[in-house]
Amino acid sequence: ASSSFLRFYLAPKVVYGYVGNKMVTTTLQALGCDVAAINTVNFSNHTGYRQVKGRRTPASEIRELYDGLRQSYLTDFDMLVSGYAPSADVVDVVGFIARDLRYRSTVKPGGFFWILDPVMGDQGRLYVAEEIVPSYKQLVREADLILPNQFEAELLSGVSISSLSGVANAVRTMHKTFGTRHIVVTSVGVGEGKSELLTVVGSTKKSDGSARLFKVEVPKLDCFFSGTGDMFAGLMAARLREACAHADLLARAGWAPDDDVESVDLPLAKATEKVLSSMQIVLEKTLAARDAEMQSFGTSPGASVGGVEGEDGGDSEGKRKYLAQTKA
Ligand code: ATP
Ligand code: PLP
Ligand code: MG
Ligand code: NA
Ligand code: MG
Repeated sequence: ASSSFLRFYLAPKVVYGYVGNKMVTTTLQALGCDVAAINTVNFSNHTGYRQVKGRRTPASEIRELYDGLRQSYLTDFDMLVSGYAPSADVVDVVGFIARDLRYRSTVKPGGFFWILDPVMGDQGRLYVAEEIVPSYKQLVREADLILPNQFEAELLSGVSISSLSGVANAVRTMHKTFGTRHIVVTSVGVGEGKSELLTVVGSTKKSDGSARLFKVEVPKLDCFFSGTGDMFAGLMAARLREACAHADLLARAGWAPDDDVESVDLPLAKATEKVLSSMQIVLEKTLAARDAEMQSFGTSPGASVGGVEGEDGGDSEGKRKYLAQTKA
């Protein structure tokens, strides 16, 4: 694929492994997209290794870099993807940049699209400062698409999720409370005990305020992966643009782009299916690579993808060394 569209990323950067901007940039470039990235952190490795060197980028430096783009008119982006922000100040500056990019967008009126991954935590655990949560509750109002995981959807909506109808309820609440048009809850583990499936629930708000929900199930691999949220966001940026272009073509050819028919949420659901299909292939290869590596080192499993965080993390010297990296 090739693309003349420019995409802009605000996410963390690691030297080793594939999470954050390293993951998003690699994914997008593999799909032929041009990428401009500002790193919200510059770390040696994923924090799951338990030891890490490097720095968080101060909000002032992110702002300075953005001002640099502005002074040379390098702000002609048609999409923004924002990920992990290490402080409430950075969350605020992300909001400033998104607003400014939308305002300056010259691609076409309304042609700017902001995908926001409200990275706050996972599996019931908050891994950002508590003050970031209310900041995100403001920010999600301005994004076009948000990609919370189950825990983040619960934090944003205030609805606790223990069933599929709980997810639907949380999604409807987010549409209503924040007005966000598109939502994909990137992974939910609901249902009986150790389910074999991971569920992804997406929704687009119709003009009458109601939600059109869809659900995609994927086989759950027996491994904890890191960087998958970032890969999901990168793939989504590329696939959504394709899906929208396709829906637009259908509409122009007279295929009833009526607000009440399927075509309204079709782009998001189509894009999600494509994203998940790529995820599955990459994760299966990653798992195979991890297993091969573990075997050659004779270590027990417990680690994974783009930098790893096993259940017992990087506790042992051995594990820290071979936390498998994405090979695909
Ligand atoms: P973030 O925390 O970065 O906002 P997230 O927690 O929602 O994102 P993940 O839970 O890692 O991100 O899920 C993103 C996608 O990764 C899922 O939709 C799924 O396709 C894939 N994925 C993650 N873990 C697994 C797994 N164990 N088996 C199969 N697919 C997985
Ligand atoms: N640590 C670093 C440096 C990261 O870049 C990220 C994600 O981008 C994380 C931790 C958390 O990643 P995940 O939730 O995908 O494991
Ligand atoms: Mg997760
Ligand atoms: Na997510
Ligand atoms: Mg994640």
